[in-house]
Amino acid sequence: MITSAHIDDIRTQVRAWRAKGETVAFVPTMGNLHQGHITLVKEAAKKCDHVVASIFVNPMQFGQNEDLDAYPRTLEADSQALTAAGAELLFTPTPAVIYPKGLAQQTYVEVPGISDVLCGASRPGHFRGVSTIVCKLFNIVQPDVAFFGNKDYQQLLVIRTMVEDLSLPIEIIGIDTIREASGLAMSSRNGYLTVEEKAAAPALKKAIDAMAQGIKQGISIEQVTEEAKASLTAAGFTPDYLEVRHADTLAKAETQDKALVILAAAYLGKARLIDNLRFDR
Ligand code: PAJ
Repeated sequence: MITSAHIDDIRTQVRAWRAKGETVAFVPTMGNLHQGHITLVKEAAKKCDHVVASIFVNPMQFGQNEDLDAYPRTLEADSQALTAAGAELLFTPTPAVIYPKGLAQQTYVEVPGISDVLCGASRPGHFRGVSTIVCKLFNIVQPDVAFFGNKDYQQLLVIRTMVEDLSLPIEIIGIDTIREASGLAMSSRNGYLTVEEKAAAPALKKAIDAMAQGIKQGISIEQVTEEAKASLTAAGFTPDYLEVRHADTLAKAETQDKALVILAAAYLGKARLIDNLRFDR
């Protein structure tokens, strides 16, 4: 796998592939890779001739009091895992390569509406940071296809909307959440959990599953939400939000809506964990 921090190196290699008529898939990440990320790379390798990955802990998407500095950086192990999964090119820029004038002078991309609710409400500016970096990475790599996890459901909708609104010629593919045997969604932030917290963490997925079950049985959204919040609190979580929304728009679920998604964010110790379930009523 070729690794470079320089935009020109990435462009030169991708251009050479394209000149031969070969297709290019892209998997952007912030590193500290686990099986969730690796599954995206493997799916990308099945779909296209070449896979480009990126590792960049994007300062623009972290809030002032968030974990930018603490975010785990494990480049050597990540490189090995990416190579084994079939990635051929890895972009590892520094913040100076991506934001040479600094964040305050940086042009940004903002997807209105969908960026402002749920994680966007709890983390102001977060999705502006995500859409801006993903747009920049798309322009640097110029892939045919890009892969994202359904685990970050709102992020995936923000990116799909950006691609549509800006007419970017890139197919976006969402991949199902990869979980530990306990049901806990894999996440780089799981590394912040103590042994006791890790044992309690599967309660998040269980609470979401119980909500979906209840809604399918005709129990009101209010009641299932109350019960799920209580079970999370009992397991040691501090819930941030727990919501049932329309699966495509993230608008509040109306009685006639069939395509629903339950989205949850909750603190467990130092970690802010998110999970979701898309289902039809
Ligand atoms: P990161 O959290 O590193 O995730 C990179 C990609 O892996 C995202 O598309 C995410 O949804 C996916 N992913 C994470 N955990 C997963 C799991 N358990 N199963 C399946 N996919 C999973 O998301 C980001 O980085 C950043 O916001 C980024 C898009 C790279 C922009 O900076």
